[in-house]
Amino acid sequence: MILLNRDVLPGPIAVFDSGYGGLTVLQNLLDEFPEYDFIYFGDNARAPYGSRSFDVVYRYTRQVVQWLFERGAHLVILACNTASAKALRTIQQVDLPKWDPSRRVLGVIRPSVELLAGISGSGHIGILGTEGTVLSQSYPLEINKLSPQLKVTQEPCPLWVPIVENHQMETEGARFFVKKNLDNLFEKDRDIDTVVLGCTHYPLLLPVIRELLPDKVRVISQGPVVAESLRDYLQRHPDMERRISRTGTCEYFTSEQADRFGESATLFLKRPVTATQIAF
Ligand code: DGL
Repeated sequence: MILLNRDVLPGPIAVFDSGYGGLTVLQNLLDEFPEYDFIYFGDNARAPYGSRSFDVVYRYTRQVVQWLFERGAHLVILACNTASAKALRTIQQVDLPKWDPSRRVLGVIRPSVELLAGISGSGHIGILGTEGTVLSQSYPLEINKLSPQLKVTQEPCPLWVPIVENHQMETEGARFFVKKNLDNLFEKDRDIDTVVLGCTHYPLLLPVIRELLPDKVRVISQGPVVAESLRDYLQRHPDMERRISRTGTCEYFTSEQADRFGESATLFLKRPVTATQIAF
């Protein structure tokens, strides 16, 4: 791969997801860092990633990350748990050293796990995620390293991403499947008092999730967690902070139809979005 030599020029922070889910993270980043430039890429044409193999998720993610670097980003956030679970480590360890060791790719699993350390009263945590994220065991493994006292129970929710990608969040069907997976989770462990939405699409189902769970159960969405963790990261890495351009803009790209993406993103973000289609 040949990267354009833009590393001396400041560039936007790139936020990547398989589709609309990463917008739930972008929303918090735009609120928290209004001065920075952002670029968002949703791989809607190839979503969902959750049921795809390691190889395929790695190949798709790598391709988009490379493109985002070529567009001038120095820092890419994989606002996708599935890509963070299946592609992040290989990109960090194998690709980045070859492409440009000064660029960075960050995921969303580690910051969420760090937050859990002192948060649960019962010490029983529920993780909701895609099949890929659950099968990768990334959450139990990472939690066990940092907080071995926590008991972790996972539940894969394979239909939740298609429900969001197809804008069916407010339907009876959505409610049915959300209830089914929440019931499964709590049947496995009734003492769970903290539930992590371990897929960035899931906050778009938050109204129905919240309605179905008792108030005493805390639900963690990753947007605020990632924003907080990025602030901390940039404080610790002023060299990277200086490489972010600051005109307060955000550009949107999708691998599917641009007008459909723009309409949906406008609804989700409650701000006007115009997108550009990129074919891979
Ligand atoms: N938002 C992605 C995640 O956080 C969804 C993955 C998918 O496309 O299935 O895992």
